[in-house]
Amino acid sequence: MSAFDALKQNSLSFSLLPISIRELFFLTETPCDIFGMVDGLYKLILREHSFINSQVLRDLISRNHSTVFVQQDRRNDIITLQQNNLRTVTRSLSIGDAVEKGRKQLGLLTLNMSYLYDDPTDDETLSLQYQSVKNLCSFLYERPEIHEKLYHDYIKQKHHFIFAQPLLSSLFLVGILKMSHLYSFKEVESLFITSYFKDIGMSVIPTEKYDQRTLSDEERVLLNSHPKTSAQILQGRIQLSPAHFAIMENHHLFSLLTKDLHVPDTSKLDHKEAKMISGFETMVISITDVIAAMITPRPYRDATSLFDSLELAKVLMSDDYPGEFKLMVNYFKSVFFK
Ligand SMILES: [Fe+2]
Repeated sequence: MSAFDALKQNSLSFSLLPISIRELFFLTETPCDIFGMVDGLYKLILREHSFINSQVLRDLISRNHSTVFVQQDRRNDIITLQQNNLRTVTRSLSIGDAVEKGRKQLGLLTLNMSYLYDDPTDDETLSLQYQSVKNLCSFLYERPEIHEKLYHDYIKQKHHFIFAQPLLSSLFLVGILKMSHLYSFKEVESLFITSYFKDIGMSVIPTEKYDQRTLSDEERVLLNSHPKTSAQILQGRIQLSPAHFAIMENHHLFSLLTKDLHVPDTSKLDHKEAKMISGFETMVISITDVIAAMITPRPYRDATSLFDSLELAKVLMSDDYPGEFKLMVNYFKSVFFK
């Protein structure tokens, strides 16, 4: 490498920021220069205004560019573009091909969730997320017949589990609550919002930390208090009743003190305790969360099948909530195991 090239690499290492290539999904051209790491060196891989589509991005991923780099001062260009994208899709959700629209909405919503985790105090990002989640709820409520397709397409997008899990659990929740015929649409909507935002307190730890095998004691304490932190972050900023905030704070009905934060250890389970503090709403939000945690992979374990995760749900709830368990099984049977 010439001295000039060495200088150039050095300056790039100071000015470039790593981002997930998922931030370029749903765009038709690059809003800025995109760099990749090739043999330990930064290389321009897509010039500003290059045409991109899913094939181009898939090719890059297959060439080990799951993480790409952008100039720090251009990062906001991508965020602004994707947030506008989300606004547009949210407004026109019920127009056009439902699966296509839903797939895009889920992807963009997840991206915006990652922006929100980067700065949970940003009111504009939060209100965009809140509005989009509300629209998504009515979209899903009206269309249980496309839940399965959306679920499979969403899994394929391979989002980080901390963003995928609340979305999947809320998708299941809306289907189960609708099938129960116990709730008005407005009630389903509030529970959907509660479920979707319940883990936002996990943003106190950087996303990369979740990929580590072990966390420090301090990080673990922070993580275990995430249900309360979620409510603190959202209090007074989104429209939810105190009862819904209470559900959010109690969404871990089963032990938090397991290696896999959202998957309980059944050998240490205390049914009585869970029963005491929960109504059906808290129980169903907690259980769909456990299922969504199990079917999304972790760095230290593979994803479990939907079928096997229902087996665990059976252990957790069939004694105390036999009717409700049956209802859940009926939902999964009619939507996912047709
Ligand atoms: Fe949680």
